[in-house]
Amino acid sequence: MLDKQITIAIDGPAGAGKSTIAKKVAEILSIEYVDTGAMYRALTLKVLNEGLDPKSTEDVKSIIENTSIDFRNNHIYLDNKNVDKEIRENRISKNVSYIAKIKEVREAMVKIQQKLAKTKSVIMDGRDIGTVVLPNADFKFFVVASVEERARRRYKELIEKGEEGISYEDIKKEIENRDRIDSTREISPLVKSQDAYLLDTTGKTVDECVNEIISIIKGDS
Ligand code: DC
Repeated sequence: MLDKQITIAIDGPAGAGKSTIAKKVAEILSIEYVDTGAMYRALTLKVLNEGLDPKSTEDVKSIIENTSIDFRNNHIYLDNKNVDKEIRENRISKNVSYIAKIKEVREAMVKIQQKLAKTKSVIMDGRDIGTVVLPNADFKFFVVASVEERARRRYKELIEKGEEGISYEDIKKEIENRDRIDSTREISPLVKSQDAYLLDTTGKTVDECVNEIISIIKGDS
């Protein structure tokens, strides 16, 4: 339905609904969806699998150059292996913010992400897409929801996947901790780009949010 190449940036905190919405918008517009959080998660997986300390900048920096991270056709590849499933484990969610704070990590990821958006239409979600990765994106959205609703969504998702030993309260605390680290970090903190459209998904269905975005892109509103 699009007759020119476009870029759409979707930012917001964990659990706000970015990826669910972005995937549907991508399908409707027949464009590529790029999940940048998956890239930071893939690197976190490698750090943990190698027995390195995610809080140690030196440990993490030591593997960046020898790691390949790629996002193709909705799948995330770490050193050419599909890691779609592993990166969603709670041990990754708990540690990824420490990895995403590191300057060298961000530089490497941003480079890959900008390259992905160069030659085709994309909808890209993350924390710094509208501010750093694609500052000239054609459309920018900042997606938010209350912390309680975000924790409820994440908890339900993890329980449905069979994750054990978790509680709603723990998930809420983890989300608050990630919000704090992601929003206060020195490099590319999570902030709303001034020109981004604010979309609060609290109490809205996925379809309502998707329709809101599509109508803005089509210029109906
Ligand atoms: O969207 P997500 O929950 O999969 O993201 C995982 C983590 O990666 C999140 O805590 C912050 C970080 N991240 C980031 O710093 N910049 C991005 N563009 C995407 C994610």
